Amino acid sequence: MSEQREPFVRGAETGTDPALAAAAYSPRVCPDPRLDEVDLAVVEALEAERKRQEESIELIASENYVSQAVLDAVGSMATNKYAEGYPGKRYYGGCEHVDKIEQLAIDRAKKLYGAEHVNVQTHAGSQANMAIYLAMLKPGDTILAMSLDHGGHLTHGFRLNYSGRFFNAVTYGVRADTERIDYDDMRKKALEHRPRLVIAGASAYPRIIDFDLFADAARDVGALFMADIAHIAGAVSTWHHPSPLPLADFVTATTHKTLRGPRGGLIMCKSAWAKKVDAAVFPGMQGGPLMHVIAGKAVAFGEALTPAYRDYIGAVHGNARAMSDEMRRLGYRIVTGGTDNHLFLVDLGVKNVTGAAAAKALERAGITVNKNLIPFDKRPPIETSGIRLGTPAMTTRCLGADEMRRIARWIDRVLSNLDDEKVIAGVRGETLEFCRQFPIPAVHRLGRFGI
Ligand SMILES: Cc1ncc(COP(=O)(O)O)c(C=O)c1O
Repeated sequence: MSEQREPFVRGAETGTDPALAAAAYSPRVCPDPRLDEVDLAVVEALEAERKRQEESIELIASENYVSQAVLDAVGSMATNKYAEGYPGKRYYGGCEHVDKIEQLAIDRAKKLYGAEHVNVQTHAGSQANMAIYLAMLKPGDTILAMSLDHGGHLTHGFRLNYSGRFFNAVTYGVRADTERIDYDDMRKKALEHRPRLVIAGASAYPRIIDFDLFADAARDVGALFMADIAHIAGAVSTWHHPSPLPLADFVTATTHKTLRGPRGGLIMCKSAWAKKVDAAVFPGMQGGPLMHVIAGKAVAFGEALTPAYRDYIGAVHGNARAMSDEMRRLGYRIVTGGTDNHLFLVDLGVKNVTGAAAAKALERAGITVNKNLIPFDKRPPIETSGIRLGTPAMTTRCLGADEMRRIARWIDRVLSNLDDEKVIAGVRGETLEFCRQFPIPAVHRLGRFGI
């Protein structure tokens, strides 16, 4: 017996009758509920993430907390807009307002850095670097960059990354005696390998980078010079770190680290390269830009132009110095002996603890860090002999030097008692209480679900 089926009035079948389809999809049957009314699974995870952020001490050097203003922009309706192309030259209609947003972001970034040309469309720092390679290199070309295990970044030629697969990457590192960049070796390698592109910049380097020496080496071998300031973007904008502009042909950055904006990339270059760079981003590498994120970048650049932001970066650096001094006083070896910027590397050799074990135990105590190779590390990257500590996030929560020293002492207590869960739980109690005294500014003003 064949089954009698009810005729469908909603769903795909209604597609045969346009009137039925339109009736089935009316705002009355499809109201616009809030996220917490429709998707508890996502809300629960977001809520848990908000709580994790509020209740832990964040020392990952590449993270930060954005302002409510940046959150508002990123959560705006600009997310709905396709805007392939650039302001005034789009492939879609209805771009007049997002044009203004993107132009604001460009103009503010230009002012912030004194850049000749700016592209704000790359989705992340990795894409910013990729755009430069796509614009200027051919597969097989030689690039010269800092090696990953001495503090460089994956996108600077690591063999498993596209940059190491498509280009011939030659690396320089730090000196064994000072753990500072070996500029002589960098120059020697430039002369020997005649790279097409010389790259300065790092993910785990605590000292001032001498961009002049890179520019000299690049010029002397006829190479292009790119500075990747992803980590120090904030400090460069406030002159707490010397700027690679106008020495560099290209400067790439992330907007979400010290710059305290939404996740994203930023490219600055000399006017001569503007067309090539823009074409490499779109249509070379990406389609539609993330206009809501670009709105967030515009807001963050605006914030970074204020005197308050300059003070913030000063405090970030002061806090990193205070904390690294305290760690040294507690008996730890600090790579290079200290820091000039927002981060430092702790060699855990003195405790005979791996970075991986340290990071796990600290997480149980409410302190988030990342394991990190130290220069000439004998342990593999999955274990490491060090941890990387950074102060941008906790400085946003208004911590000062005294509080940073206190955190250093908690870290020491955990690392000295790795097998003692009672001690770790005790520290956890104290860090929880501490986090409540220093709320995340944006979350503080948010609604129930932090969204
Ligand atoms: C020096 C450097 N360049 C590029 C990047 C890549 O940024 P993203 O993670 O946004 O792709 C990073 C990220 O940590 C970095 O440290």
